[in-house]
Amino acid sequence: MTTPTILPAWQALAEHRREMEGQHLRHWFARDSGRFQRFSLELGDIVFDFSKNLITDKTLGLLLQLAEQCGLAARIGAMFAGEKINRTENRAVLHIALRNRSERPIWVNGQDVMPKVRQVLSKMRRFTEQVRGGQWRGFSGKPITDVVNLGIGGSDLGPRMVAQALTPYHNKDLKVHFVANVDESDLLETLKGLNQETTLFLVASKTFTTQETMANANSAREWLLTGAGGEQSAIAQHFVAISTNRGAVQGFGIDPENMFEFWDWVGGRYSLWSAVGLSIALAVGMDRFEELLEGAFEVDEHFRTAPFSRNIPVIMGLLGIWYRNFWDAASCAILPYDHYLRYFPDHLQQLDMESNGKRVDLEGKVVSYATGPIVWGQVGTNGQHSFFQLLHQGTHLVPCDFIVAAQSHHELGGHHAMLLANCLAQAEALMKGKSEDEVRTELAFLELPKDHLESLVAAKTFPGNRPSNLFLVKKLTPKTLGSLIAFYEHKVFVQGTIWNINSFDQMGVELGKQLAGEILPALQDGEIGQHDASTRALIEFCRRWRGK
Ligand code: F6P
Repeated sequence: MTTPTILPAWQALAEHRREMEGQHLRHWFARDSGRFQRFSLELGDIVFDFSKNLITDKTLGLLLQLAEQCGLAARIGAMFAGEKINRTENRAVLHIALRNRSERPIWVNGQDVMPKVRQVLSKMRRFTEQVRGGQWRGFSGKPITDVVNLGIGGSDLGPRMVAQALTPYHNKDLKVHFVANVDESDLLETLKGLNQETTLFLVASKTFTTQETMANANSAREWLLTGAGGEQSAIAQHFVAISTNRGAVQGFGIDPENMFEFWDWVGGRYSLWSAVGLSIALAVGMDRFEELLEGAFEVDEHFRTAPFSRNIPVIMGLLGIWYRNFWDAASCAILPYDHYLRYFPDHLQQLDMESNGKRVDLEGKVVSYATGPIVWGQVGTNGQHSFFQLLHQGTHLVPCDFIVAAQSHHELGGHHAMLLANCLAQAEALMKGKSEDEVRTELAFLELPKDHLESLVAAKTFPGNRPSNLFLVKKLTPKTLGSLIAFYEHKVFVQGTIWNINSFDQMGVELGKQLAGEILPALQDGEIGQHDASTRALIEFCRRWRGK
């Protein structure tokens, strides 16, 4: 492992970045008819167009050298071999085992984990078939109509996003809901329309200690028991757990028979492929869930075996490094042009920022270079009418990822063609821009005072040269969705490797949790304790206004 900035390729990239001054993407496109062919890749039913990036063949060559010099190949090998690459937690990182559809064993501590993975998949299949088929009954003998996933972070964002994205595949007789926040409004608003007799709760928590999830699970249990006349035996029919912590699950009162296991080598934000995806499987059925795994597996095989120059996640990761470290781009935008993908940016936010929002390297040294970007975004075309102004004419460079499907699940007039046209147009507009001369020609017919004309020309000019990737998917299916998510997971891995950081711990979330634990009793009526003047004053206001 080494500091990337001292590598020859890093230094060559810094020099090359200076050569880029004054160059423009629109000229590169005008001069080079083969640009799309060279800078795009296909996998299954997905095209990855990265031709609208601020790169030349030389840039790509240097970025690929950087990947080699950082030892990326060895690091990919180490992950797939089950080595404990999550050094601080001394754990393997094996979400790839959850979707390993081959016969290849995957070893952790001398044990093949695949038999256990397959066992849990079979248990998920039996359970989903029972619930979806109406054989799994609530305490009064009625079939389940509503499933509520109680979880937060990785135990919520991934399954919530996928369940939403696969809405066209849902079983119409079974509704799936997600409650994450400790804010009681989340739980209460969800429970409002539900019936205790026909509601099933999935308590999804890797640790089974997370404050928000346990508070929601406890309140949900009370709500259930109110409907079941206090009959404790009802819990077994209405609560299942998804966790690595068998003891805590039993302590909560859930029958271990109703527990779906996963393992410490599955990180929370990488867990939707495990039993944490049970809500997805209940919504769309186990066959569809396995198609999701297939899509991810196809990408895993591609990532593991394709040469870096043809490797989609490697190129995604390298492009991100180019902008973050050589163009000072602090953020990147995720812009799915697909209503069903509207939670995709939220999921990627946790995936990327919890993984690569790190300030020390693998040896514990504070890094001297930028690491993970701020990830944000929104569904298109909605975003065009809010923040796209800044993307086109603001002073920030924001690399964008567009995602759009060629085929829709519906056919309503010309809607889908309009959606596609807007998506392609935005990527083209960011790239090309509109020159001052083009604006002057457009305004030639206006008779305006000179000052006004000049300010109008300036305001209407688009610099262009703003980079984007575009994923064109044939159709958003479980399989293509699985592939899309896996592309981003491996992109994050590539970047973490180059930055020499641990993408698989999340120590930065702990301090706030610890302080909340200290503030909580102070808010009730306990001692206020040792806090700064601002926090003390705010606690006092809360107590006064809450009558404590
Ligand atoms: O607080 C962050 C975090 O630890 C995430 O990494 C994780 O996905 C989430 O909390 C939920 O954790 P758990 O599944 O253990 O409840």
